[in-house]
Amino acid sequence: MTGSTGVSSDLASDPLFPALKDYLIDHTGLSYYADKNAELADRIDRRLEVAGAGDCTSYLRLLKDGRAGETELDALVEELTIGETYFFRQPELFDALRDVVFPEIIEKNRATRRIRIWSAGCATGPEAYSIAILLKRDLGAALAGWDVDILGTDINRRFLQRAAAGVYDEWAFRATPDSVRTACFRPQGAHHAIAPDYRRAVSFQYHNLVKHPFPSILHDLQAFDLILCRNVMIYFNRDLCRKIISQFEGCLVERGWLALGPSDLSIDLFQHFSMRNIGGAIVHQKPGDVTIHMPPSPQPSPAYGGGGGIVDVMPPAPDVEPRAGAQSLADRGDWDAALRAYERLIDAEPLNASVHFYYALVLRQVANYDASEKTLRHAIYLDRRNALAHHHLGLLLHKRGDAKGAIRSFQNVLSVLAGLPDDTPIENGDGMTVSDLRGVARLNMETRAVL
Ligand SMILES: C[S@@+](CC[C@H](N)C(=O)[O-])C[C@H]1O[C@@H](n2cnc3c(N)ncnc32)[C@H](O)[C@@H]1O
Repeated sequence: MTGSTGVSSDLASDPLFPALKDYLIDHTGLSYYADKNAELADRIDRRLEVAGAGDCTSYLRLLKDGRAGETELDALVEELTIGETYFFRQPELFDALRDVVFPEIIEKNRATRRIRIWSAGCATGPEAYSIAILLKRDLGAALAGWDVDILGTDINRRFLQRAAAGVYDEWAFRATPDSVRTACFRPQGAHHAIAPDYRRAVSFQYHNLVKHPFPSILHDLQAFDLILCRNVMIYFNRDLCRKIISQFEGCLVERGWLALGPSDLSIDLFQHFSMRNIGGAIVHQKPGDVTIHMPPSPQPSPAYGGGGGIVDVMPPAPDVEPRAGAQSLADRGDWDAALRAYERLIDAEPLNASVHFYYALVLRQVANYDASEKTLRHAIYLDRRNALAHHHLGLLLHKRGDAKGAIRSFQNVLSVLAGLPDDTPIENGDGMTVSDLRGVARLNMETRAVL
């Protein structure tokens, strides 16, 4: 494919085109473009004119230019990513989830009455909403009173906004029975909007599988019962897939499930999983009796952190090692040990807002919502400028049905961050910048205000 202007063929022969290509593949994982110069050049062309860059040299310079570069990279990602998706794609997988996977999860989680699901690379959201529909329509009786969280993440911010809006055209329903569409969506002009009952458990979050940390309790990416990552890794190279699968393994509870697309990957990448063929759908299950294989934590990316000062005003911790240890227990989902570790830290540093904050995140994971809310409020009392604590209080209040309180907390995030340079790192934010957290707070206000 070449642009109608013919500029893309010039771009592909630019001496710095290979460097630009490497930079993009490194930041997105999209090795798909490694042997598709014309298609890549065509897609980059669409940004060059808008960005006012004449060649690869000036465009690369722009991409590496702090926050302006991150904004441009986001816009380019919107051109490069392929968001093909629809409701109940691959129906045999949804049958397998309904008939085998969810019943097993429900049996196993009877004591906690919680289910956590991650749709990684969710595009505009149909996969996450399809799961919500299935759980409510087919398993609603078994799940009455349960706490169900379905999280969709993606690297494309425009897709996430559309996912949060939850409005779809006819084409998105090509594998959906009419009866389901009529029952679960409301007409909106020529489109269909997901009904509130089916969106309540679903939320969306920006996350780059190649650059951002996971497992991570801070980003609520751990202890999932099921991870779906379908038709995403087909665009990545094998080494990257191996690394991501290992990170997914760290994010799953014991006997948790991983579902990929039918043509995603070959068998030898799943040595630590047992493979199950359920009516033609392949799903991978993490064993229940092995040690968790933790990959090393990835370094924060430039797109998720930068130079500049620090948002928070907490004094530096006298000894970071116990804190890192406690956080790694939490990231691994070892809740009892993490709770004990944070309790010891609170005894040692009772005025440290950050320690209370992480303790609250673990309390939330064990569904002790009262104590989690109280502890988050205490962290904010100790440090009113702790933007992460305001943010997580918003998430928790939303979960507890206090929509107004949640919106107030997200507004507090924006007030705390007001006036700070975009690329300022958030303290203890795993590489997150002020601009990242602002974006998350705004997306949450959009998603959660409508509930
Ligand atoms: C073809 S869609 C798949 C959507 C959905 N999972 C499905 O199967 O219907 C692939 C999605 O992966 C996302 N993606 C690509 N690279 C990614 C990355 N590095 N991190 C997170 N998401 C990524 C794209 O933005 C796109 O939305």
